[in-house]
Amino acid sequence: MISYHTERKIHLSVAVIATLSIATFFTSTVIVELSGSHEQIATVKRLIVMPGLFILVPAIAITGGTGFALSKQRSGSLVDRKKKRMPIIGANGLLILLPAAIFLDQWASSGSFDVKFYIVQTLELLAGAVNLTLMSMNIRDGLRLSGRLNKM
Ligand code: HEM
Repeated sequence: MISYHTERKIHLSVAVIATLSIATFFTSTVIVELSGSHEQIATVKRLIVMPGLFILVPAIAITGGTGFALSKQRSGSLVDRKKKRMPIIGANGLLILLPAAIFLDQWASSGSFDVKFYIVQTLELLAGAVNLTLMSMNIRDGLRLSGRLNKM
C-alpha cells in the first residue's frame, strides 16, 4: 500500500504531464498547420502518436486512477466536480483524440491532405480544447483541495 502523501505526489506529477502533453500537441498542431509544409505536418502527426500517445494515455489513466483513490479520503463539492469531469475527459480522449491522432498520422504520412483530413483535424482541435479546459479546471480544484491555491 502506498501512502496518501505519495499517491498525491504521483497524482500531481501525472496530471501535469497529461495536461502539458495535450497542450503541446494542440500548440504544435496549430503552428505547423498554419505555417508548415505537408512534410512537417506529417512529422508532427507522427510524433503525436509516438511517443505522444505512449506518454499521454498512461498519464491520463494514472491521473484518473490516483484521483479516485485520493477521493476516498476527501469529500465535498470540489471533489464531486472533479469526479464528474473525469469521465468526459476519458471519453473525449479515447473516442475522439486517440482515433483522430492515429487516422491523421496515417493520412498525413500518405499525403492525403483532403477534406476528411481537415474535418478530423478540426474535430481533434475542438476535443483537445475541451479536454484542456476540463483538465485545467481539475488542476485548479486540485490545488484548492491541497491548499496550494486559495479556496473560493
Ligand atoms: C485530468 C484530471 C485531473 C487533473 C489534471 C488533476 C489535477 C490535480 C492537481 C494538480 C492536484 C493538486 C495536487 C497537489 O497539490 O499535491 C490534485 C489534487 C487532488 N485531486 Fe486531482 N486531478 C484530476 C483528476 C482527479 C479525479 C478524477 C479525482 C477524483 C475525484 C481527483 C481527486 C483529487 C483530490 C482528492 C485531490 C486532493 C489531494 C489532497 O491534497 O488531499 N483528481 N488534482
